[in-house]
Amino acid sequence: MNVKLLQKLTEAHGVPGQEDAIREIVREELKKVCDISVDSMGNMICFKAATEKAKKGEPKKLMLAAHMDEIGFMVKFIDDKGFLRLQPLGGWDPRQMASQRVIVHTKSGPINGLLGLQTKPKHMLTPEEANKPVTTDSYFVDIGMDGDTAKKKVRLGDMVTMDRTFQQMGKLCTCKCMDDRVSVYTMIEAVKAAKTHSVDVYAVATVQEEVGLRGATTSGWAIKPDVAIAIDITLANDIPGIPETDHVTKLGEGTAIKIMDSSLICHPKIVEHFRELAEKNKIKHQMEVLPFGGTDAGGIQRLHGGIPSFTLSIPTRYVHTVNETVHSDDVDASVKLLARYIEDAHNGDYSYK
Ligand code: CO
Ligand code: ZN
Repeated sequence: MNVKLLQKLTEAHGVPGQEDAIREIVREELKKVCDISVDSMGNMICFKAATEKAKKGEPKKLMLAAHMDEIGFMVKFIDDKGFLRLQPLGGWDPRQMASQRVIVHTKSGPINGLLGLQTKPKHMLTPEEANKPVTTDSYFVDIGMDGDTAKKKVRLGDMVTMDRTFQQMGKLCTCKCMDDRVSVYTMIEAVKAAKTHSVDVYAVATVQEEVGLRGATTSGWAIKPDVAIAIDITLANDIPGIPETDHVTKLGEGTAIKIMDSSLICHPKIVEHFRELAEKNKIKHQMEVLPFGGTDAGGIQRLHGGIPSFTLSIPTRYVHTVNETVHSDDVDASVKLLARYIEDAHNGDYSYK
């Protein structure tokens, strides 16, 4: 695994609508292999033409989609004491926000801050106060500035992201926003690894997934692919206290071939295609049925009268926390399977009788 690249991608910052830093990394990585363009929403389309002639007619269009945005916040209010209030972007569990440090990205550069909770320390809490439910609105940001200075430095709409660096633990890698930078990583490495292919590849680093699959929907509409593959993380709930029936996937058990989530039922013939390729190439894999959540493929599937769509998933523990954690073998398996699919995509017949 190219640990350096995964580290770079996960330590970069970009909330929905402000994915500029990630775009630069993708451009740097793929500019030698792809023709790169950016659409009006900020989706980065990395085009790699078929290396072999299609058997008949024009080469088919294969779209890959991995989202660049991470869940985060934007500043919505600055009070006279210099404390900031936040608009969440994406699905935060307020319990997972406790005691975190954040970075406020201002026009003149990043500022350190911390997420304060509107509560008194343990020593002074009455039982009623201790049991009060915590919501995302219970938090504010302390940047250590008085009101006037804060209002000069910070502007409404400035993005706020979690301050967390990359770390390896044995074969596990952990950081903020493996969702979905580990998939951006997978897409980049698979496009590089695919040898010959007779489909045209549109590898799209999408924007604004976490607020409703928005970038995938517009770029998918413009590209009008014959087949669309999203790459995203899925839940690996294989931790203490969670019954096995709710594990969804397990870390270290391979890349996950998605059957469904709440945004799409993956095209059964693509599911079968991925399954066969994994078996043929002896790539460790597991099947995934996710009762909740969605991916870019859910947006693309419903365009243009329907596009055969599928999601390849990377099992991840502690999703939507600062400690999103993946297994390096699963990441490698995902890169490999996606590369083999790019090479074999032209053999896919996803039509119904
Ligand atoms: Co997410
Ligand atoms: Zn995601």
